[in-house]
Amino acid sequence: MTDRESFWTAYKELDARYGTYTDDSYEYQVHLSRTERAPIHRWLYYQEGYSWALVARMLNHLNINSKALVFDPFAGSGTTLLVAKEAGNKSIGFEINPFGAFVARTKTLNYSDRDLKELKKFEIPEWKPMTNVYDKYELKIVGNLFDRHKLEKIEALQEKIRRVENEKTRDLLFTALLSILENVSNYRKGGNGLKRKRVNRNLDVFMEFKTKTEQIYNDLVDRPLGTEPIIINDSCLNIGEHNIDNIGISIFSPPYANCFDPFEVYKIELWIGEFVSSYDDLRGKRRKALASNLNADLKREVGMAHRTELLDALLAFLSREELWDKRIPRMLDIYFHDMLDLLSSLYSRTKNNGFCVIVVGNSAYGKLAIPTDILLAQMGEKAGFDVKEITIARTNETSSQQHAKLGRYTEYLRESLVVLQK
Ligand SMILES: C[S@@+](CC[C@H](N)C(=O)[O-])C[C@H]1O[C@@H](n2cnc3c(N)ncnc32)[C@H](O)[C@@H]1O
Repeated sequence: MTDRESFWTAYKELDARYGTYTDDSYEYQVHLSRTERAPIHRWLYYQEGYSWALVARMLNHLNINSKALVFDPFAGSGTTLLVAKEAGNKSIGFEINPFGAFVARTKTLNYSDRDLKELKKFEIPEWKPMTNVYDKYELKIVGNLFDRHKLEKIEALQEKIRRVENEKTRDLLFTALLSILENVSNYRKGGNGLKRKRVNRNLDVFMEFKTKTEQIYNDLVDRPLGTEPIIINDSCLNIGEHNIDNIGISIFSPPYANCFDPFEVYKIELWIGEFVSSYDDLRGKRRKALASNLNADLKREVGMAHRTELLDALLAFLSREELWDKRIPRMLDIYFHDMLDLLSSLYSRTKNNGFCVIVVGNSAYGKLAIPTDILLAQMGEKAGFDVKEITIARTNETSSQQHAKLGRYTEYLRESLVVLQK
């Protein structure tokens, strides 16, 4: 494979080999909707999240019973873990972003009547103007994110929440605050970061917080107790340091190899929630994330065990192209290396006949689409799994500019489910 045309033939051949097919009934399940209505799942919009319905559907589709251990190496806001808990399954998840890990934990714990009574009892503090409210944060854009009086109200809430003695109630209140930050700020999440809102509804911090707390209370009151998942705030590549075995099914979505930095998207929550204390601290955390973006650690040397004919050809082709950053081929190389590493660890920790379901979107660089779904299927095979299905859930919309550049490769800008079986 040396020219662009030969990739087309190779992609088509691999699709035929894996029996890739489209099922657009998954279209709305590979994303979390901003207007999600399901209890608990609706608390917070996690941009990279998928729908609870996808996880429930997969457990059903693959006949997973409630005895199976469910695993999510990229737990995000805890969708897989919450569905597993509600289905009566034990579950374990890793999440590198401390904000995601915190929210996932709060969403999946059991709460007593006392915890919830104290939640209901919480009173909104008084708003007092503060001197130098912006100075507390090293985050440079804090003044753009929040008008002064909004940040003062956020601070007043933080201070009062910190004084709540009951840890579980405190964490729920803190989750309520984190959940409204984007809504009350001047920015919204979009693509690879934050974008200034064109229409700013100028919502009141206290009103939004009150409504969110009521929603949380309503979702938790009278909820049956279940097995609380184990959530580890660490890189899933460190799975070997933890005692995890007998996985029945892993259901997850890794960060897509599209250069979007998940830490950038959650800047507001990470800083205001004090999950990061300085730019150095943030840099350190970013470097531990999967190499799906250019802020990850790209200096590591990786071997060749993950290379396939297709990946070799893609990397060679891209290194000859004029890309917007010359580190992109290296990033992709490390991405697939680390995914093979993870899949090999999962293979050895999965029960015979157990599954691994990967939800992933492809990306494009230069004039070429990168078929991450096919490449992850190849990594799965290298790790020892059989490729059971590759299902295309949707093809992403593209701009006319992108279409002109990619031509028929836009077809490969798709989001798919790759189902592997041991
Ligand atoms: C696509 S999101 C998962 C969303 C999740 N399925 C949900 O519904 O909320 C991928 C997640 O992987 C996390 N992540 C990135 N690198 C990681 C690593 N090495 N170990 C664990 N988590 C990581 C990111 O912070 C992000 O939250």
